[in-house]
Amino acid sequence: MESSRYVHGFSEREAIRLNDQADTLEDIIHHDSIFPKDSLVLEAGCGVGAQTKIMAAKNPDSNFISVDLSEDSVREAREMITSLGIANVELKQADIYNLPFKNETFDVVFICFVLEHLLNPILALKETMRVLKRGGTMIAIEGDHGSAFFYPDSEYAHLAINCQIMLQKQGGGNSNIGRELYPLFKSVHLSQISVSPRMVYVDASRPHLVEGFIKNTFTAMIEGIGKKAIQQGIIDSMTFEKGIRDLYRTAEPDGVFCYTFFKASGIK
Ligand SMILES: C[S@@+](CC[C@H](N)C(=O)[O-])C[C@H]1O[C@@H](n2cnc3c(N)ncnc32)[C@H](O)[C@@H]1O
Repeated sequence: MESSRYVHGFSEREAIRLNDQADTLEDIIHHDSIFPKDSLVLEAGCGVGAQTKIMAAKNPDSNFISVDLSEDSVREAREMITSLGIANVELKQADIYNLPFKNETFDVVFICFVLEHLLNPILALKETMRVLKRGGTMIAIEGDHGSAFFYPDSEYAHLAINCQIMLQKQGGGNSNIGRELYPLFKSVHLSQISVSPRMVYVDASRPHLVEGFIKNTFTAMIEGIGKKAIQQGIIDSMTFEKGIRDLYRTAEPDGVFCYTFFKASGIK
């Protein structure tokens, strides 16, 4: 099952990281996640529901069907959505490559941080296109690790980030996929394609991003793959640990961190 190759795994810590990531980036990636009234939205690869809770609350007049391959994540997402009293979301276990919906069911398809993990993102887009109504909107958000730069710069930090890039590549994914959203959308014949780069710029004057992005989202993500990278001989433990220390160093009062997400939309 493709989820066994999922580079971040399904630990409690990863669930917390996904929620921290979504909450921290809410303004940057979701300020324009507003769908026409009465839209039926498919969220493909919803994970533990970190983006779901934000979009469902912003669009009380739309209905969401959020699916993920991982049954455990779907269960966790359902518990969270229920505990928040959100009533416009249905959660289902499903594979993005083989969706249990009829052709032309949805007004909007939303995919966030999923294509980067897939062996065949084009096939996944084709399948989500199948269930999208003609005239409906496809939205994808992905990061791109090639866009990470920081002060103080550190060769070790780049080596640690590179472990994530390599592990994801070994699993058939692509952690630099953000820059490819335009050609991917083109290749499935979406029209009116628009890609909007969303740069996260962090320095000490933005303390919530220092905590929420540098520490709890980005560095936590790289730290999370350390054991696997060391086990596989991609890096030695001293180099990796220095890289992680140097990433945390960018969260000090004189540090700076930049990363760009890409949000693409297109019409079927
Ligand atoms: C990084 S998580 C993102 C979760 C959520 N979209 C978010 O932004 O918090 C990637 C998710 O893609 C899911 N996934 C991977 N392959 C999938 C597939 N073939 N079909 C459906 N979901 C898949 C994983 O189970 C995981 O929950």
